[in-house]
Amino acid sequence: MLSEQSAATVRATLPAVGAAIGEITERFYAGLFAAHPELLRDLFNRGNQAAGTQRQALAGSIAAFAVHLLDHPDTRPDAMLGRIAHKHASLGITPEQYGVVHEHLFAAIADVLGDAVTPEVAAAWTEVYWLMANALIAIERRLYEESGGPRWRTWQVVERVPETADVVTLRLRPLDGDPLPVGDFRAGQYVSVRVELPDGARQSRQYSLSAAPGSDVRQISVKRIPGDAATPAGEVSHHLHTRVRVGDRVQLSEPYGDLVLDDSDGAPLLLASAGIGVTPIVAMLAHLADRGHGTPVTVVHADRSPADHALRADHEAYAAKLPEASVHLWYEREAPEGAATGLADLTDVPVRPGTRAYLCGPLPFMRAVRAQLLTKGVAPADIHYEVFGPDLWLASA
Ligand SMILES: Cc1cc2nc3c(=O)[nH]c(=O)nc-3n(C[C@H](O)[C@H](O)[C@H](O)COP(=O)(O)OP(=O)(O)OC[C@H]3O[C@@H](n4cnc5c(N)ncnc54)[C@H](O)[C@@H]3O)c2cc1C
Ligand code: HEM
Repeated sequence: MLSEQSAATVRATLPAVGAAIGEITERFYAGLFAAHPELLRDLFNRGNQAAGTQRQALAGSIAAFAVHLLDHPDTRPDAMLGRIAHKHASLGITPEQYGVVHEHLFAAIADVLGDAVTPEVAAAWTEVYWLMANALIAIERRLYEESGGPRWRTWQVVERVPETADVVTLRLRPLDGDPLPVGDFRAGQYVSVRVELPDGARQSRQYSLSAAPGSDVRQISVKRIPGDAATPAGEVSHHLHTRVRVGDRVQLSEPYGDLVLDDSDGAPLLLASAGIGVTPIVAMLAHLADRGHGTPVTVVHADRSPADHALRADHEAYAAKLPEASVHLWYEREAPEGAATGLADLTDVPVRPGTRAYLCGPLPFMRAVRAQLLTKGVAPADIHYEVFGPDLWLASA
């Protein structure tokens, strides 16, 4: 909890910090990467840095944390902290690195806000930073204890299955030959995949595990991000599509992620996906099919066309194994019989009381589905989601 004196100072300076967050972020990363170029090459996502998409996530989340401390002094924003900690753990972030980030973040704040950063202001925001950092460090420590991390293990591609024109499934086994612990992850979780790119940089991205827990391989399904005249192709997805073949090696983190299926109490489930967001949802359905899940499951998926629907055969086959599943499909074009044409629309989809929903797909899809679920009486706390990028909803978590 923030001390009373710091709370008053943070409240008074929050508008100034909020207004300058873009500039603070700019200076922070410039200073951090000038002092530690290896962090840009081998840890942070270079594409996000160049495109600017991820840049404000870190400083923005500290501001959101400060708002939470002021408005709800007796609680912690666990959803926000959990998501960040899982992402950090998948990247092997260590407690020592928090000191490095602190140094460069506070240098940037002093630079941008100048004389406004009195010793009192600096002390108040330092308190906020370490309250958040220590909360993250504690969650990350627990995650590492559970997973045996932080570590990168080398895995070999044992199978490569083209799914659609732009999605490929890779199946991997540990190079050291160790068997996978059965049930070592929960449906919905992801791994970070680290590859060495042609210029020697080691870049990592997260990929949801798209097979059921307990399978004897790790399976990921990767959509290629094509480039165009204005933007380069996605670095890691392009590399996995064009360079990584059967027999090649990549490095994987242990599985992490806080979007995990809870099927423990027989609540009706709704699993909604769009596009490549199908990957964690197929793992959830596979898990339910393996367990002979007998209570109602509503499956919702939207895609450009049936030919673009990655893992379509698995998606439909697992749903067909569930006695109480109903499947609702939308395709923008070439919808076959039984599927609708257009974007997902849950108006006519029956949603049972007490439904627990899992969403994964582009933000506009998730916003639309969430709004419809709320209208149909689903409790906000029962709507869980995964974003395949920096979470723009974090600030409002
Ligand atoms: C929890 C989680 C689970 C995920 N699961 C999956 C999954 O199952 N399957 C899947 O396919 N993906 C998944 N993703 C997304 C995946 O992690 C990557 O974000 C995705 O593959 C793109 O990575 P990339 O390296 O190819 O692109 P990046 O190199 O990261 O590029 C990202 C974007 O930035 C743009 N960009 C790059 N450089 C510049 C520049 N200089 N100027 C302007 N723009 C630029 C690129 O054009 C691209 O649009 C998941 C993400 C998360 C967070
Ligand atoms: C209190 C301190 C910190 C906060 C508040 C914070 C916050 C965040 C947030 C909000 C994200 C985005 C999560 C998402 O994807 O939704 C993130 C990702 C990330 N963080 Fe942190 N972070 C902190 C410390 C650190 C430290 C110490 C490091 C290591 C030097 C680090 C490295 C990263 C990396 C590499 C990512 C992934 C994004 C990318 O690759 O560009 N963070 N962090």
